[in-house]
Amino acid sequence: MAHTTNVGVPEIAGFWEMVVIPSQFRAAAWATDPVSGVRYYVKTPKVSGQARVELLANSLYRALGIRVPLITLVTVQGRLSVASRIIPARASKMQLVAAHPEVQSGFIADAWLANWDMKSSNLLVDSDGHVWRLDQGGCLHRRALGEPKIFGPVVTEFHTLRDSVINPKAARLYGTIPQSSITAGISSVSSLSDDLIDSITRLAGFDSDTEGRLALVLKERREWLRSSLP
Ligand SMILES: Nc1ncnc2c1ncn2[C@@H]1O[C@H](COP(=O)(O)OP(=O)(O)OP(=O)(O)O)[C@@H](O)[C@H]1O
Ligand SMILES: [Mg+2]
Repeated sequence: MAHTTNVGVPEIAGFWEMVVIPSQFRAAAWATDPVSGVRYYVKTPKVSGQARVELLANSLYRALGIRVPLITLVTVQGRLSVASRIIPARASKMQLVAAHPEVQSGFIADAWLANWDMKSSNLLVDSDGHVWRLDQGGCLHRRALGEPKIFGPVVTEFHTLRDSVINPKAARLYGTIPQSSITAGISSVSSLSDDLIDSITRLAGFDSDTEGRLALVLKERREWLRSSLP
């Protein structure tokens, strides 16, 4: 069942200054809130549930202490959209981020959240050398352009994200991940309680069927990771 209401989600068209970015894949714009002066990248996915996927995955990364931009749901002419607060950083080239320790230390979170869209253009490196993960729209049960994907209890991404045949862009990014990063990542995901996963999932505002299913699978995947530790 699709989410049917955007109650409480603010409409920004006509209020924020918008510079539209031409794209054949989705509506997107650079936007400024004229009251606060804060700048955002705003994108309107074709599938509206994808905005909620991005919010949920982003919030779970945040709960794990992994750098992601602050995002908020807005509507643009009534269509559910994601506003991502601008991180002042250079666009990243593969050589800046390949095998970066913060790319490697976030691998278990990427696998847990089924982030198939890990690639250099979805990462930024700030002036302190920290890596920021942008674009969580290809996580959970969605692919980058909103198509559905299987998001089940087995964390197949534990292998596939590092397989240069299946996902060459991601595999290049991770390089050879030290076992210590894997172990630390699994203990970090394992530390998220059922209650925390439930409440973060609830805040994303899915219909109750989708909310229940996602929260359950997230917990099953957390257990799968826990049980894969020697
Ligand atoms: N919070 C942000 N701070 C700085 N730059 C951003 C931010 N969000 C997005 N961008 C820039 O906009 C680009 C597109 O963002 P994003 O990947 O979220 O959207 P997208 O529409 O899915 O694009 P693509 O299909 O190219 O992946 C990013 O590669 C980055 O250069
Ligand atoms: Mg992207």
